[in-house]
Amino acid sequence: MKVCVYTWGCQMNVLDSEVIEGRFAAAGYETAESPEDADVVILNTCSVRQHAENKVFSFLGKLGELKLRRPDVTIVVAGCVAQRLGADLRKRYGQVDLVVGTSRLGDLLGLVGELRGAGRGGAGRVHVEEETPAYPERAVSHRASRFQAFVSVMRGCDNFCAYCIVPYVRGRQASRPAGEVVDEVKALVDDGVKEVTLLGQNVTGYGRDRGETGALVRVLAELQRIEGLEWVKFVTSHPRDTGEDVFRAMRDLPKMCKYLHLPAQSGSDRILTLMRRGYSRQEYLDKVALLGEIAGEVSIASDFIVGFPGETESDFEDTVDLVRRVAYKNSFIFKYSPREGTAAAKLADDVPVADKKRRNNALLAVQQVQSLAHNRLFLGRTVKVLVDGPSKKDSARLSARTEGEEIVIFDGPTALAGQFVMVEITGATAITLSGRPTADGG
Ligand code: 5AD
Ligand code: SF4
Repeated sequence: MKVCVYTWGCQMNVLDSEVIEGRFAAAGYETAESPEDADVVILNTCSVRQHAENKVFSFLGKLGELKLRRPDVTIVVAGCVAQRLGADLRKRYGQVDLVVGTSRLGDLLGLVGELRGAGRGGAGRVHVEEETPAYPERAVSHRASRFQAFVSVMRGCDNFCAYCIVPYVRGRQASRPAGEVVDEVKALVDDGVKEVTLLGQNVTGYGRDRGETGALVRVLAELQRIEGLEWVKFVTSHPRDTGEDVFRAMRDLPKMCKYLHLPAQSGSDRILTLMRRGYSRQEYLDKVALLGEIAGEVSIASDFIVGFPGETESDFEDTVDLVRRVAYKNSFIFKYSPREGTAAAKLADDVPVADKKRRNNALLAVQQVQSLAHNRLFLGRTVKVLVDGPSKKDSARLSARTEGEEIVIFDGPTALAGQFVMVEITGATAITLSGRPTADGG
């Protein structure tokens, strides 16, 4: 039996897919190269914007032809679109055999088994429940990378930002007990992992649902004791919950990487209020300044939404100004997309598409200048990098990452994959750094 998993969306989804693949592998499934030679095709989907959903729908269209030719193939829609649309998905796409929401992810393997056991007549099940999902058991040895791993510290989200579908498709925030997180990291490190990234929609609010405060910093401190673990990162941080204790941890704990994803979403106070973000532009800027004072040089990344309901040209200019003021490493910029059921969906989506596009491009151009300035700071420095493997663009060269998530391209043997190397930076564009490994190595 062969399974093939397709993934859209965020790092949590990437991790969920890895966990699903691991479970299927443990049950004896092989990996199929394409849907054509698969017995089970799983689509792990994203609902964050309509565009993300549309990609899933068009892929499902193609799978419809496959299902006609090969009715024995089991087509599963999992993840956020499955959770959001539930039974409607099967009404719209008859080729879908099974809909498994985020709430039933841990049961996916069993549900596929039941369905296939029941033969073709068993097709057509929908498994979506309301409660926050349980953690599926993870086969730590089944990973995309031998030396890097994501570790989920929480599921769901309690923030209810006005635009965001996440609390509806992933449920309310549920933090994993710290002991469980630490044990999983230990198991991963025993299996060769050198870098872990703790994942959650709101990692700086980790533990709050369990009545704990400062839980993230405590878990980060515990991870420092794991021998063989070298780098620790975490994403993503809500600016309201990110403060001095986290910044001090970044300064004082030796394995912490100087990287912070701190999504601002907008630079306009009026829009931030409408978005229900819980901080002002000045509070955000003060946090960034405090981060610099405490932790020194940190690579900061952000997310922005342009064209939120009611966003005027002047609101947008405030966002541009924020990007000019914060020396972001990079920003992910999105055009607002109304999501049914969210608070913002009740507001008129009144920024014309053409304006959203123009603002998106304009903000990207400003960020591009910032990214180049950020990367040029590395020229002439020698930095420690973790080698990922051959570069995607030029397989004769290696691609590596710094602790701040800057990409570094250099010449070297593929055997360096998974190794830490010291590289002298000799070139910088807005997207990558390039350089040469220094003789003394890492
Ligand atoms: N429209 C556009 N962008 C959105 N994001 C979340 N919801 C929406 C939406 N409805 C963006 C935010 C978030 C990132 C993952 O996606 O910037 O940080
Ligand atoms: Fe997409 Fe959000 Fe679901 Fe991640 S949690 S897959 S970003 S909808």
